[in-house]
Amino acid sequence: MYREITLLLLIGLVAWAYQAIQPPPPKICGSPDGPPVTANRIKLRDGRHLAYKEHGVSKEMAKHKLIFIHGFSSSRHDEPLVTQLSLEVVEELGIYSVSIDKPGYGESDPHPNRTMKSLALDIEELADQLGLGSKFYVVGYSMGGHAVWSCLKYIPHRLAGATLMAPVINYWWPGLPANLSKKAYNLQLPQDQWSLRVAHYMPFLVYWWNTQKLFPASGVISLRPENFSPQDLQFLQKLAQKQNHRMQGMVTQQGVFESLHRDMMIGFGKWEFDPLDLDNPFPNNEGSVHLWMGDEDRLVPVMLQRYIARRLAWIKYKEVAGAGHLFAYADGMSEAIVRALLDRSK
Ligand SMILES: *[C@@H]1O[C@H](CO)[C@@H](O)[C@H](O)[C@H]1NC(C)=O
Ligand SMILES: *[C@@H]1O[C@H](CO)[C@@H](O)[C@H](O)[C@H]1NC(C)=O
Repeated sequence: MYREITLLLLIGLVAWAYQAIQPPPPKICGSPDGPPVTANRIKLRDGRHLAYKEHGVSKEMAKHKLIFIHGFSSSRHDEPLVTQLSLEVVEELGIYSVSIDKPGYGESDPHPNRTMKSLALDIEELADQLGLGSKFYVVGYSMGGHAVWSCLKYIPHRLAGATLMAPVINYWWPGLPANLSKKAYNLQLPQDQWSLRVAHYMPFLVYWWNTQKLFPASGVISLRPENFSPQDLQFLQKLAQKQNHRMQGMVTQQGVFESLHRDMMIGFGKWEFDPLDLDNPFPNNEGSVHLWMGDEDRLVPVMLQRYIARRLAWIKYKEVAGAGHLFAYADGMSEAIVRALLDRSK
């Protein structure tokens, strides 16, 4: 009797736990109970839709075309590069930019089988369907940096140049010295160390971990002020007034699992390659790769970024003094970043 009750309780507990860790299915855009489709979208060869938004001059008029990939908890509306240039500069440079919603974000269909490689192939397919030509630029901000590393690995022959803006580092890249990686990891808030551990070692628990209320979950998701530099906090305030897309929940309208949590599992999971092993994609100087970083960034440790820049000497590393993670919103910064990318001699 006693044993049977214990067994029943155990079965109940397992069933409850199983329920609790299961993410609900995503609310697909355009499906009967999903949000409406309002964005321009292409249909990829596997049937998924990818939403995009165009900026700058028309692609027919453009001298330079770039694809912009947003960071964590953002969307195609967050393109702080060409959208921040004056009309004169846009026309002088002849620049066109297209920003996407990463799979599962905004109006792009979720991709439960997403990998590092699939994102590079999505970008290549977008370029081809939009007719951007044989070569284009890629720029990724923060977690969008993963897409750029992936393009450098899988489609380097398609790139005219690339820029990484405060790219997020995976502490488990094998090429990072263990002691340095550990030191940088320990700079993160304890709650963020835990959400990274869960994302890396127990991805099946990511949904539960970041939705339960017993322990503090990701401080990046909850915008803990400790994660932002004084300059970042100013920009956050300004952005909150300007951007209402984020407040409307558009970013994660299809569910947090296929957007935020999938991003964490891929970004901090086991990668199929190590960026520190990459070769110069432009050995004959046909293009350049830039990495911009604020020296007061609290989300991405600058000490690791400096190490990466030293190891990959073909990357043009620019550290911005006094800047945090959101430095792209500083006056004149977007113009400096775009001009450096387009000008091969810099
Ligand atoms: C994901 O991969 C599995 C196994 O390879 C496959 O059966 C499934 O159809 C894929 N799903 C999507 C949405 O691509
Ligand atoms: C890590 O170890 C290497 C080699 O033992 C040493 O040169 C370096 O200073 C150490 N770095 C840190 C941050 O402790």
